[in-house]
Amino acid sequence: MMDPRAIAHVLSHVHDYTKSDQSRYNIGRVLGHGLLFVEGDQHKQQRRIMSPAFGPTQIRALTHIFVDKSLQLRDYWLALIPQDGPGGVPSATSTADLPRATIDVLSWLNKTTLDVIGLAGFNYSFNALSPTQTSNELNDALRSMVGSIGGGVLATLQLMIPMFRIIPTKAGRRFSTAQATFRRIGTQMLATRKAALRTVDQEDSGDNEFGQTGVKGRDLLTLLVKANMANDVKEDARMSDEDVLAQVPTFLIAGHETTSTAVTWALYALAVYPEVQAVLRAALPPPPTEGITMEFLQDLPELDRVVREVMRLHAPVSMTKRIATRADVIPTASEWEDKNGVRRSGVPVAAGDEIVIPILALNRSIEIWGPDAHEFKPDRWKNIPGKAHSIPGIWGNSMAFGGGSRACIGYRFSVIEMKALLYVLVRALEFSLAVPPESVRKRPGLVTRPYIDGKMDQGPQMPLYVSAIRRDED
Ligand code: HEM
Repeated sequence: MMDPRAIAHVLSHVHDYTKSDQSRYNIGRVLGHGLLFVEGDQHKQQRRIMSPAFGPTQIRALTHIFVDKSLQLRDYWLALIPQDGPGGVPSATSTADLPRATIDVLSWLNKTTLDVIGLAGFNYSFNALSPTQTSNELNDALRSMVGSIGGGVLATLQLMIPMFRIIPTKAGRRFSTAQATFRRIGTQMLATRKAALRTVDQEDSGDNEFGQTGVKGRDLLTLLVKANMANDVKEDARMSDEDVLAQVPTFLIAGHETTSTAVTWALYALAVYPEVQAVLRAALPPPPTEGITMEFLQDLPELDRVVREVMRLHAPVSMTKRIATRADVIPTASEWEDKNGVRRSGVPVAAGDEIVIPILALNRSIEIWGPDAHEFKPDRWKNIPGKAHSIPGIWGNSMAFGGGSRACIGYRFSVIEMKALLYVLVRALEFSLAVPPESVRKRPGLVTRPYIDGKMDQGPQMPLYVSAIRRDED
Protein backbone atom coordinates (compact mmCIF):
# COMPACT_ATOMS: atom_id res chain seq x y z
CA MET A 1 0.00 0.00 0.00
CA MET A 2 1.75 3.18 -1.20
CA ASP A 3 -0.98 5.75 -0.73
CA PRO A 4 -0.08 8.23 2.08
CA ARG A 5 -3.71 8.77 3.08
CA ALA A 6 -4.35 5.04 3.31
CA ILE A 7 -1.21 4.55 5.40
CA ALA A 8 -2.19 7.41 7.70
CA HIS A 9 -5.60 5.76 8.17
CA VAL A 10 -4.11 2.37 9.06
CA LEU A 11 -1.53 3.82 11.45
CA SER A 12 -3.96 6.09 13.25
CA HIS A 13 -6.72 3.49 13.81
CA VAL A 14 -4.74 1.37 16.24
CA HIS A 15 -7.73 -0.64 17.45
CA ASP A 16 -8.74 -1.62 13.91
CA TYR A 17 -5.19 -2.38 12.74
CA THR A 18 -2.94 -4.24 15.19
CA LYS A 19 0.24 -6.25 15.04
CA SER A 20 -0.32 -9.86 14.01
CA ASP A 21 -0.62 -12.59 16.66
CA GLN A 22 2.46 -14.19 15.17
CA SER A 23 4.63 -11.10 15.53
CA ARG A 24 3.26 -10.38 19.03
CA TYR A 25 4.02 -13.95 20.04
CA ASN A 26 7.59 -13.54 18.78
CA ILE A 27 8.09 -10.22 20.51
CA GLY A 28 6.43 -11.41 23.71
CA ARG A 29 8.61 -14.51 24.03
CA VAL A 30 11.80 -12.49 23.75
CA LEU A 31 10.96 -9.13 25.23
CA GLY A 32 8.05 -9.81 27.53
CA HIS A 33 5.10 -7.49 27.56
CA GLY A 34 6.93 -4.22 26.85
CA LEU A 35 5.86 -1.32 24.69
CA LEU A 36 6.56 -3.14 21.42
CA PHE A 37 4.23 -5.97 22.46
CA VAL A 38 1.20 -4.50 24.14
CA GLU A 39 -1.96 -3.38 22.34
CA GLY A 40 -5.04 -1.31 23.08
CA ASP A 41 -5.51 0.30 26.49
CA GLN A 42 -2.42 -1.34 27.92
CA HIS A 43 -0.37 0.25 25.15
CA LYS A 44 -1.96 3.62 25.78
CA GLN A 45 -1.19 3.34 29.47
CA GLN A 46 2.46 2.31 28.98
CA ARG A 47 3.03 4.90 26.29
CA ARG A 48 1.58 7.68 28.46
CA ILE A 49 3.83 6.82 31.38
CA MET A 50 6.92 6.33 29.21
CA SER A 51 6.61 9.28 26.82
CA PRO A 52 8.12 11.98 29.07
CA ALA A 53 11.28 9.87 29.42
CA PHE A 54 11.82 10.32 25.66
CA GLY A 55 10.92 14.02 25.53
CA PRO A 56 13.31 16.87 24.63
CA THR A 57 14.18 17.70 28.27
CA GLN A 58 15.35 14.19 28.87
CA ILE A 59 17.23 13.87 25.58
CA ARG A 60 18.99 17.16 26.35
CA ALA A 61 20.17 15.64 29.63
CA LEU A 62 21.39 12.48 27.88
CA THR A 63 23.30 14.27 25.10
CA HIS A 64 26.59 14.19 27.01
CA ILE A 65 26.45 10.37 26.91
CA PHE A 66 26.05 10.41 23.12
CA VAL A 67 28.95 12.84 22.80
CA ASP A 68 31.29 11.06 25.24
CA LYS A 69 30.79 7.73 23.50
CA SER A 70 31.28 9.35 20.06
CA LEU A 71 34.58 10.87 21.22
CA GLN A 72 35.65 7.53 22.64
CA LEU A 73 34.90 5.82 19.32
CA ARG A 74 36.75 8.53 17.40
CA ASP A 75 39.81 8.04 19.59
CA TYR A 76 39.78 4.25 19.13
CA TRP A 77 39.61 4.71 15.37
CA LEU A 78 42.36 7.35 15.39
CA ALA A 79 44.53 4.91 17.33
CA LEU A 80 44.05 2.25 14.63
CA ILE A 81 45.43 4.53 11.92
CA PRO A 82 49.18 4.15 11.41
CA GLN A 83 51.06 7.30 12.42
CA ASP A 84 53.53 7.39 9.56
CA GLY A 85 53.02 7.02 5.85
CA PRO A 86 52.93 9.11 2.74
CA GLY A 87 51.46 12.56 3.09
CA GLY A 88 53.03 13.45 6.43
CA VAL A 89 51.05 15.32 9.04
CA PRO A 90 47.30 15.22 8.37
CA SER A 91 45.73 18.53 7.51
CA ALA A 92 42.16 19.77 7.23
CA THR A 93 42.48 20.39 3.50
CA SER A 94 44.03 17.27 2.00
CA THR A 95 43.89 13.62 2.93
CA ALA A 96 45.37 12.22 -0.28
CA ASP A 97 47.90 9.47 0.42
CA LEU A 98 47.32 9.73 4.14
CA PRO A 99 47.86 6.64 6.23
CA ARG A 100 44.62 4.82 6.71
CA ALA A 101 43.08 1.89 8.52
CA THR A 102 40.48 -0.53 7.19
CA ILE A 103 37.69 -0.63 9.77
CA ASP A 104 34.42 -2.55 9.90
CA VAL A 105 32.47 0.46 11.05
CA LEU A 106 29.28 -1.55 11.67
CA SER A 107 30.70 -3.70 14.46
CA TRP A 108 32.26 -0.66 16.21
CA LEU A 109 29.08 1.36 15.90
CA ASN A 110 27.10 -1.57 17.33
CA LYS A 111 29.30 -1.52 20.41
CA THR A 112 29.00 2.24 20.68
CA THR A 113 25.21 2.32 20.54
CA LEU A 114 25.03 -0.59 22.99
CA ASP A 115 27.17 1.40 25.43
CA VAL A 116 24.94 4.42 24.85
CA ILE A 117 21.64 2.64 25.47
CA GLY A 118 23.14 0.91 28.53
CA LEU A 119 24.10 4.22 30.13
CA ALA A 120 21.21 6.34 28.86
CA GLY A 121 18.61 3.64 29.35
CA PHE A 122 19.65 2.09 32.66
CA ASN A 123 22.82 3.79 33.86
CA TYR A 124 24.45 0.46 33.13
CA SER A 125 28.03 0.24 31.83
CA PHE A 126 28.33 -2.39 29.13
CA ASN A 127 31.82 -1.10 28.31
CA ALA A 128 31.42 -2.86 24.98
CA LEU A 129 33.72 -0.36 23.24
CA SER A 130 36.56 -0.80 25.65
CA PRO A 131 39.26 -3.15 24.29
CA THR A 132 40.11 -4.16 27.85
CA GLN A 133 36.57 -5.22 28.60
CA THR A 134 36.80 -8.85 29.48
CA SER A 135 33.30 -9.88 30.40
CA ASN A 136 30.01 -8.25 31.17
CA GLU A 137 27.09 -10.39 32.23
CA LEU A 138 24.36 -8.51 30.39
CA ASN A 139 26.41 -8.11 27.23
CA ASP A 140 27.26 -11.83 27.35
CA ALA A 141 23.55 -12.60 27.73
CA LEU A 142 22.68 -10.39 24.77
CA ARG A 143 25.43 -11.91 22.61
CA SER A 144 24.49 -15.41 23.65
CA MET A 145 20.93 -14.67 22.59
CA VAL A 146 22.22 -13.61 19.19
CA GLY A 147 24.69 -16.48 19.01
CA SER A 148 22.02 -19.00 19.94
CA ILE A 149 19.94 -18.17 16.96
CA GLY A 150 22.35 -16.70 14.44
CA GLY A 151 21.94 -13.33 12.77
CA GLY A 152 21.41 -10.05 14.59
CA VAL A 153 19.52 -9.38 17.75
CA LEU A 154 16.46 -8.37 15.80
CA ALA A 155 16.68 -11.41 13.51
CA THR A 156 16.49 -13.36 16.74
CA LEU A 157 12.92 -12.19 17.11
CA GLN A 158 11.93 -13.64 13.78
CA LEU A 159 13.58 -16.95 14.31
CA MET A 160 12.40 -17.63 17.82
CA ILE A 161 9.41 -19.81 17.14
CA PRO A 162 10.99 -22.79 15.39
CA MET A 163 13.69 -22.97 18.05
CA PHE A 164 11.22 -23.12 20.90
CA ARG A 165 8.34 -24.92 19.29
CA ILE A 166 10.18 -27.85 17.84
CA ILE A 167 12.82 -29.72 19.85
CA PRO A 168 14.62 -28.22 22.82
CA THR A 169 18.16 -27.60 21.62
CA LYS A 170 21.42 -26.55 23.22
CA ALA A 171 20.99 -23.17 21.57
CA GLY A 172 17.48 -22.93 22.96
CA ARG A 173 18.77 -23.64 26.46
CA ARG A 174 21.44 -20.94 26.07
CA PHE A 175 18.68 -18.59 25.07
CA SER A 176 16.64 -19.38 28.19
CA THR A 177 19.71 -18.81 30.36
CA ALA A 178 20.18 -15.43 28.69
CA GLN A 179 16.57 -14.52 29.38
CA ALA A 180 17.01 -15.48 33.03
CA THR A 181 20.04 -13.18 33.24
CA PHE A 182 18.04 -10.31 31.76
CA ARG A 183 15.37 -10.94 34.31
CA ARG A 184 17.68 -11.16 37.29
CA ILE A 185 19.67 -8.04 36.39
CA GLY A 186 16.53 -6.17 35.38
CA THR A 187 14.90 -7.01 38.73
CA GLN A 188 17.99 -5.77 40.54
CA MET A 189 18.03 -2.56 38.47
CA LEU A 190 14.39 -1.98 39.28
CA ALA A 191 14.89 -2.57 42.99
CA THR A 192 17.87 -0.17 43.02
CA ARG A 193 15.79 2.52 41.31
CA LYS A 194 12.88 2.13 43.69
CA ALA A 195 15.10 2.19 46.74
CA ALA A 196 16.98 5.25 45.48
CA LEU A 197 13.78 7.09 44.70
CA ARG A 198 12.49 6.43 48.19
CA THR A 199 15.55 7.92 49.85
CA VAL A 200 15.96 11.66 50.28
CA ASP A 201 19.40 11.74 48.72
CA GLN A 202 18.87 10.30 45.27
CA GLU A 203 22.07 11.60 43.80
CA ASP A 204 24.39 8.65 43.85
CA SER A 205 24.32 5.17 45.25
CA GLY A 206 27.86 4.31 44.18
CA ASP A 207 29.15 1.49 42.06
CA ASN A 208 27.72 -1.94 42.55
CA GLU A 209 28.33 -5.43 41.36
CA PHE A 210 25.79 -5.09 38.58
CA GLY A 211 27.97 -2.71 36.60
CA GLN A 212 25.78 0.25 37.47
CA THR A 213 27.69 3.40 38.17
CA GLY A 214 25.16 4.83 40.57
CA VAL A 215 21.58 6.02 40.34
CA LYS A 216 21.80 9.56 39.07
CA GLY A 217 18.11 9.73 38.30
CA ARG A 218 18.55 10.61 34.64
CA ASP A 219 18.36 7.29 32.82
CA LEU A 220 15.18 6.20 31.05
CA LEU A 221 14.44 3.41 33.54
CA THR A 222 14.70 5.74 36.55
CA LEU A 223 12.39 8.25 34.89
CA LEU A 224 9.97 5.50 34.05
CA VAL A 225 9.95 4.18 37.61
CA LYS A 226 9.59 7.75 38.88
CA ALA A 227 6.67 8.48 36.56
CA ASN A 228 5.03 5.21 37.50
CA MET A 229 5.38 5.90 41.22
CA ALA A 230 4.11 9.49 40.94
CA ASN A 231 1.18 10.36 43.20
CA ASP A 232 -0.98 11.63 40.35
CA VAL A 233 -0.96 8.24 38.62
CA LYS A 234 -4.06 6.29 39.64
CA GLU A 235 -3.34 2.93 41.23
CA ASP A 236 -4.99 0.97 38.40
CA ALA A 237 -3.12 3.01 35.77
CA ARG A 238 0.31 2.07 37.10
CA MET A 239 2.50 -0.34 35.22
CA SER A 240 3.24 -3.58 37.04
CA ASP A 241 6.85 -4.45 37.90
CA GLU A 242 6.58 -7.08 35.20
CA ASP A 243 5.68 -4.42 32.61
CA VAL A 244 8.50 -2.14 33.76
CA LEU A 245 10.96 -5.03 33.59
CA ALA A 246 9.85 -5.83 30.04
CA GLN A 247 11.10 -2.41 28.93
CA VAL A 248 14.72 -3.39 29.64
CA PRO A 249 15.15 -5.82 26.71
CA THR A 250 12.70 -3.68 24.69
CA PHE A 251 14.95 -0.61 24.89
CA LEU A 252 18.10 -2.66 24.42
CA ILE A 253 16.87 -4.41 21.33
CA ALA A 254 14.79 -1.64 19.74
CA GLY A 255 17.32 1.05 20.55
CA HIS A 256 20.77 -0.17 19.63
CA GLU A 257 21.08 -1.96 16.30
CA THR A 258 18.63 0.39 14.61
CA THR A 259 20.77 3.43 15.38
CA SER A 260 24.13 1.77 14.66
CA THR A 261 22.81 0.55 11.31
CA ALA A 262 21.58 4.05 10.44
CA VAL A 263 24.98 5.60 11.21
CA THR A 264 26.68 2.83 9.24
CA TRP A 265 24.55 3.66 6.19
CA ALA A 266 25.36 7.33 6.74
CA LEU A 267 29.11 6.67 6.63
CA TYR A 268 28.60 4.44 3.59
CA ALA A 269 26.66 7.18 1.76
CA LEU A 270 29.34 9.75 2.66
CA ALA A 271 32.03 7.37 1.42
CA VAL A 272 30.24 6.85 -1.90
CA TYR A 273 29.63 10.60 -2.26
CA PRO A 274 32.95 12.19 -1.17
CA GLU A 275 31.81 15.62 -2.34
CA VAL A 276 28.84 15.48 0.06
CA GLN A 277 31.22 14.35 2.79
CA ALA A 278 33.51 17.36 2.10
CA VAL A 279 30.58 19.80 2.13
CA LEU A 280 29.33 18.37 5.41
CA ARG A 281 32.78 18.49 7.02
CA ALA A 282 33.32 22.08 5.94
CA ALA A 283 29.94 23.02 7.44
CA LEU A 284 30.70 21.56 10.89
CA PRO A 285 31.97 24.27 13.25
CA PRO A 286 34.39 23.54 16.11
CA PRO A 287 32.71 22.46 19.34
CA PRO A 288 31.55 25.31 21.57
CA THR A 289 33.62 25.94 24.69
CA GLU A 290 30.74 24.96 26.95
CA GLY A 291 30.60 21.54 25.28
CA ILE A 292 28.42 19.89 22.63
CA THR A 293 24.77 20.29 23.59
CA MET A 294 21.54 19.07 22.05
CA GLU A 295 20.82 22.61 20.82
CA PHE A 296 24.25 22.85 19.19
CA LEU A 297 23.68 19.58 17.32
CA GLN A 298 20.17 20.60 16.30
CA ASP A 299 21.44 23.85 14.89
CA LEU A 300 23.66 22.34 12.18
CA PRO A 301 21.57 22.51 8.97
CA GLU A 302 23.95 20.55 6.74
CA LEU A 303 24.14 17.72 9.29
CA ASP A 304 20.36 17.77 9.59
CA ARG A 305 19.97 17.38 5.82
CA VAL A 306 22.44 14.49 5.74
CA VAL A 307 20.64 12.67 8.57
CA ARG A 308 17.24 13.20 6.93
CA GLU A 309 18.55 11.97 3.60
CA VAL A 310 20.14 8.87 5.17
CA MET A 311 16.91 8.02 6.95
CA ARG A 312 14.97 8.54 3.72
CA LEU A 313 17.23 6.49 1.48
CA HIS A 314 18.53 3.92 3.97
CA ALA A 315 15.73 3.60 6.55
CA PRO A 316 16.99 0.72 8.75
CA VAL A 317 13.45 -0.56 9.37
CA SER A 318 12.25 -0.97 5.80
CA MET A 319 8.67 -2.02 6.43
CA THR A 320 6.14 -2.99 9.07
CA LYS A 321 2.79 -4.78 8.99
CA ARG A 322 -0.65 -4.56 10.49
CA ILE A 323 -3.64 -6.92 10.57
CA ALA A 324 -7.18 -5.60 10.12
CA THR A 325 -9.31 -6.58 13.13
CA ARG A 326 -12.58 -5.79 11.30
CA ALA A 327 -13.92 -5.08 7.83
CA ASP A 328 -13.17 -1.53 6.68
CA VAL A 329 -12.73 0.63 3.61
CA ILE A 330 -9.34 2.33 3.74
CA PRO A 331 -9.62 5.77 2.11
CA THR A 332 -7.02 6.62 -0.54
CA ALA A 333 -5.68 10.04 -1.55
CA SER A 334 -6.11 9.34 -5.23
CA GLU A 335 -8.75 7.37 -7.12
CA TRP A 336 -7.82 4.03 -8.60
CA GLU A 337 -9.39 1.48 -10.91
CA ASP A 338 -10.10 -2.02 -9.65
CA LYS A 339 -9.81 -5.14 -11.80
CA ASN A 340 -13.40 -4.70 -13.02
CA GLY A 341 -12.68 -1.18 -14.22
CA VAL A 342 -14.63 0.46 -11.36
CA ARG A 343 -13.15 3.77 -10.08
CA ARG A 344 -12.65 3.67 -6.31
CA SER A 345 -11.49 6.06 -3.59
CA GLY A 346 -10.95 3.41 -0.97
CA VAL A 347 -9.60 -0.13 -0.51
CA PRO A 348 -12.03 -2.63 1.07
CA VAL A 349 -10.42 -4.94 3.61
CA ALA A 350 -11.75 -7.88 5.62
CA ALA A 351 -10.93 -8.86 9.19
CA GLY A 352 -7.64 -10.77 9.17
CA ASP A 353 -6.22 -9.06 6.07
CA GLU A 354 -2.56 -8.18 6.31
CA ILE A 355 -1.47 -4.66 5.37
CA VAL A 356 2.14 -3.90 4.56
CA ILE A 357 3.41 -0.41 5.42
CA PRO A 358 6.25 0.01 2.90
CA ILE A 359 8.47 2.43 4.81
CA LEU A 360 11.43 2.39 2.42
CA ALA A 361 9.35 2.29 -0.76
CA LEU A 362 7.39 5.35 0.31
CA ASN A 363 10.58 7.15 1.34
CA ARG A 364 11.98 6.46 -2.13
CA SER A 365 8.80 7.11 -4.10
CA ILE A 366 9.57 8.81 -7.43
CA GLU A 367 6.07 10.21 -7.43
CA ILE A 368 6.81 12.05 -4.19
CA TRP A 369 10.51 12.84 -4.47
CA GLY A 370 10.98 13.10 -8.24
CA PRO A 371 13.12 11.14 -10.73
CA ASP A 372 16.26 11.31 -8.56
CA ALA A 373 14.45 9.74 -5.57
CA HIS A 374 16.97 6.86 -5.49
CA GLU A 375 20.01 9.12 -5.25
CA PHE A 376 21.68 10.42 -2.10
CA LYS A 377 21.15 14.18 -2.30
CA PRO A 378 20.94 15.94 1.08
CA ASP A 379 20.32 19.23 -0.75
CA ARG A 380 16.83 18.06 -1.67
CA TRP A 381 15.85 18.95 1.90
CA LYS A 382 16.42 22.64 1.12
CA ASN A 383 13.30 22.49 -0.98
CA ILE A 384 10.94 19.75 0.15
CA PRO A 385 8.45 18.77 -2.59
CA GLY A 386 4.81 19.54 -1.72
CA LYS A 387 3.79 15.88 -1.94
CA ALA A 388 6.29 14.92 0.78
CA HIS A 389 4.16 16.82 3.30
CA SER A 390 1.48 14.17 2.95
CA ILE A 391 3.81 11.44 4.31
CA PRO A 392 2.29 10.44 7.67
CA GLY A 393 5.60 9.84 9.47
CA ILE A 394 6.32 11.11 12.97
CA TRP A 395 9.60 12.71 11.88
CA GLY A 396 10.80 14.76 8.97
CA ASN A 397 8.51 13.92 6.00
CA SER A 398 9.78 10.39 6.32
CA MET A 399 8.37 7.03 7.34
CA ALA A 400 11.70 5.95 8.88
CA PHE A 401 10.38 6.06 12.47
CA GLY A 402 6.84 4.99 11.59
CA GLY A 403 3.73 7.06 12.23
CA GLY A 404 0.61 7.27 14.38
CA SER A 405 0.45 6.45 18.07
CA ARG A 406 2.73 3.41 17.64
CA ALA A 407 5.51 5.38 15.98
CA CYS A 408 9.01 5.08 17.38
CA ILE A 409 9.10 6.42 20.94
CA GLY A 410 12.90 6.73 20.68
CA TYR A 411 13.14 8.87 17.56
CA ARG A 412 14.45 12.03 19.29
CA PHE A 413 16.93 9.95 21.22
CA SER A 414 18.13 8.31 18.04
CA VAL A 415 18.34 11.47 15.90
CA ILE A 416 20.48 13.29 18.48
CA GLU A 417 22.64 10.21 19.00
CA MET A 418 23.19 9.94 15.23
CA LYS A 419 24.01 13.64 14.99
CA ALA A 420 26.51 13.43 17.85
CA LEU A 421 28.25 10.48 16.22
CA LEU A 422 28.36 12.01 12.75
CA TYR A 423 29.46 15.42 14.03
CA VAL A 424 32.39 13.98 15.97
CA LEU A 425 33.42 11.34 13.43
CA VAL A 426 33.15 13.37 10.23
CA ARG A 427 35.08 16.32 11.69
CA ALA A 428 38.00 14.14 12.66
CA LEU A 429 38.07 11.39 10.06
CA GLU A 430 37.70 10.83 6.34
CA PHE A 431 35.83 7.79 5.07
CA SER A 432 36.06 5.94 1.75
CA LEU A 433 34.80 2.53 0.64
CA ALA A 434 37.21 -0.36 1.19
CA VAL A 435 35.22 -2.62 -1.19
CA PRO A 436 33.75 -1.97 -4.64
CA PRO A 437 30.42 -0.13 -4.21
CA GLU A 438 28.54 -2.77 -6.20
CA SER A 439 29.58 -5.47 -3.72
CA VAL A 440 27.65 -3.86 -0.85
CA ARG A 441 24.32 -5.65 -0.43
CA LYS A 442 21.30 -4.73 1.63
CA ARG A 443 19.79 -7.73 3.32
CA PRO A 444 16.20 -7.25 4.39
CA GLY A 445 15.41 -8.33 7.92
CA LEU A 446 13.76 -6.45 10.73
CA VAL A 447 16.79 -4.15 10.39
CA THR A 448 18.29 -3.78 6.90
CA ARG A 449 22.01 -4.29 7.36
CA PRO A 450 24.92 -4.25 4.89
CA TYR A 451 26.62 -7.43 3.68
CA ILE A 452 29.48 -7.88 1.23
CA ASP A 453 29.01 -9.97 -1.89
CA GLY A 454 30.91 -13.24 -1.65
CA LYS A 455 31.24 -12.75 2.12
CA MET A 456 27.64 -13.12 3.13
CA ASP A 457 28.60 -15.90 5.56
CA GLN A 458 30.77 -13.45 7.51
CA GLY A 459 27.61 -11.66 8.60
CA PRO A 460 26.80 -7.98 8.30
CA GLN A 461 29.73 -5.60 7.89
CA MET A 462 30.80 -2.31 6.36
CA PRO A 463 34.55 -2.12 5.73
CA LEU A 464 35.67 1.48 5.18
CA TYR A 465 39.08 3.10 4.81
CA VAL A 466 39.44 5.59 7.61
CA SER A 467 42.08 8.31 7.69
CA ALA A 468 42.65 11.16 10.14
CA ILE A 469 41.81 14.67 9.06
CA ARG A 470 43.13 16.40 12.14
CA ARG A 471 43.77 15.77 15.78
CA ASP A 472 40.74 17.48 17.18
CA GLU A 473 40.92 20.07 19.90
CA ASP A 474 37.70 18.68 21.39
C1 HEM B 1 17.55 4.72 13.71
C2 HEM B 1 16.99 4.26 14.79
C3 HEM B 1 15.57 3.77 14.90
C4 HEM B 1 14.67 3.42 13.91
C5 HEM B 1 14.89 3.44 12.41
C6 HEM B 1 13.45 3.02 14.57
C7 HEM B 1 12.30 2.65 13.90
C8 HEM B 1 11.11 2.34 14.52
C9 HEM B 1 9.86 2.11 13.82
C10 HEM B 1 9.67 2.14 12.31
C11 HEM B 1 8.91 1.84 14.76
C12 HEM B 1 7.43 1.53 14.49
C13 HEM B 1 7.23 0.07 14.20
C14 HEM B 1 5.83 -0.23 13.75
O1 HEM B 1 5.05 0.67 13.46
O2 HEM B 1 5.50 -1.44 13.65
C15 HEM B 1 9.56 1.89 16.06
C16 HEM B 1 8.93 1.64 17.27
C17 HEM B 1 9.59 1.64 18.48
N1 HEM B 1 10.89 2.05 18.73
FE1 HEM B 1 12.21 2.69 17.36
N2 HEM B 1 13.62 3.10 15.93
C18 HEM B 1 14.88 3.57 16.19
C19 HEM B 1 15.45 3.84 17.43
C20 HEM B 1 14.85 3.56 18.63
C21 HEM B 1 15.42 3.82 19.93
C22 HEM B 1 16.78 4.50 20.16
C23 HEM B 1 14.54 3.34 20.86
C24 HEM B 1 14.62 3.32 22.37
C25 HEM B 1 15.60 3.73 23.09
C26 HEM B 1 13.41 2.81 20.15
C27 HEM B 1 12.31 2.22 20.73
C28 HEM B 1 11.14 1.90 20.07
C29 HEM B 1 9.96 1.37 20.73
C30 HEM B 1 9.84 1.04 22.22
C31 HEM B 1 8.97 1.22 19.74
C32 HEM B 1 7.54 0.72 19.94
C33 HEM B 1 6.64 1.93 20.12
C34 HEM B 1 5.17 1.59 20.32
O3 HEM B 1 4.72 0.54 19.86
O4 HEM B 1 4.48 2.41 20.95
N3 HEM B 1 13.62 2.96 18.80
N4 HEM B 1 10.89 2.23 15.89
